[in-house]
Amino acid sequence: MNIHKVIRRAIEQFGSETESLEFLPENRYNKNMFPTTGQYDWFSGQMLYCLIRYLKPRRILEISTASGYATMFMAMALKQNKWGKVDTFEVNAEAAKAAVKLFKQYDVDAFVESYVGDARRISVATPSDYNVYFLDSLHTEDFARWFMDTHIMRSDRIDALFHMHDILPLHSRVRRWNAPPFESDEFDEKPGQSMFEKIKDKVHDLVQIPRRQEEQRVSIHVHPPDKPGVLQTFDGNCSTEAIWGNKLAALMKPEDHVFLYDITNDYQQMTPRKYDHAAIGRSDSNNIPMEWNESLWCNVAALKVAYRQWIELR
Ligand SMILES: C[S@@+](CC[C@H](N)C(=O)[O-])C[C@H]1O[C@@H](n2cnc3c(N)ncnc32)[C@H](O)[C@@H]1O
Repeated sequence: MNIHKVIRRAIEQFGSETESLEFLPENRYNKNMFPTTGQYDWFSGQMLYCLIRYLKPRRILEISTASGYATMFMAMALKQNKWGKVDTFEVNAEAAKAAVKLFKQYDVDAFVESYVGDARRISVATPSDYNVYFLDSLHTEDFARWFMDTHIMRSDRIDALFHMHDILPLHSRVRRWNAPPFESDEFDEKPGQSMFEKIKDKVHDLVQIPRRQEEQRVSIHVHPPDKPGVLQTFDGNCSTEAIWGNKLAALMKPEDHVFLYDITNDYQQMTPRKYDHAAIGRSDSNNIPMEWNESLWCNVAALKVAYRQWIELR
């Protein structure tokens, strides 16, 4: 299964349906709807929807839900398919509650099974026949390897797909908006944040210490401007998960994986740049806000081979 062809066909067949999903990017920063918001971009959301429409999966595994932003793209597609279910896990009870409320409000709750708690500790039977695996959680190599060992390596479908979020190809060149690259502490701050909001965030960080201690910082490679008039950039990868994910991607054939960052502009019919202006913290080398589409899609079968190879090479 050539993933580039699957994507093309999925967009050709179902791309025209995604206009009805614009209420999602339009409400992405609406705290009443999404009290916690991941950076899940418009083209990534459309792609997710089209793939679910095209593949017609029976079962999807998602870790983690947050307030249900990406889950909504999947659930809306399942509703159109008239079958299938997302099993989704979230450790933040408040976010998970908001997500469940949303699924009910949009009448997609029959297509979502929500679990609250640390996904590594919730004891549910782990099916091995998921069609789609979606990982957007604690962005550490350790967590991703737990996911690989517990879920991917046990998968027994040869046609399953895997999606990792918050990862870019190493050749990408991006900036954090309005910030030099890249004191890591600045990552957590949002442009235009008031002092009160900054203090609130810091307090929030403090009470989250047990979880945040698990997060691992990585060093960032800064690239000087590659032509006059632009600014310095980096490759956008700032977690151990993203660095590790790139190592696995490098072990896969081009037809077995795709970074959406690389193909966003190939699908102009999807208006992939429509919400660039609203991107928080992300920009291009001109410091203009830009959605990065930090999504990697690959074949599970190829991923398993790459993972075994990586273990041997270590
Ligand atoms: C980047 S956000 C997910 C964004 C989400 N996909 C969306 O579309 O908004 C990462 C989420 O992972 C959750 N998380 C972190 N560690 C977890 C764990 N051990 N089990 C379950 N969820 C976890 C966090 O609470 C956070 O909501």
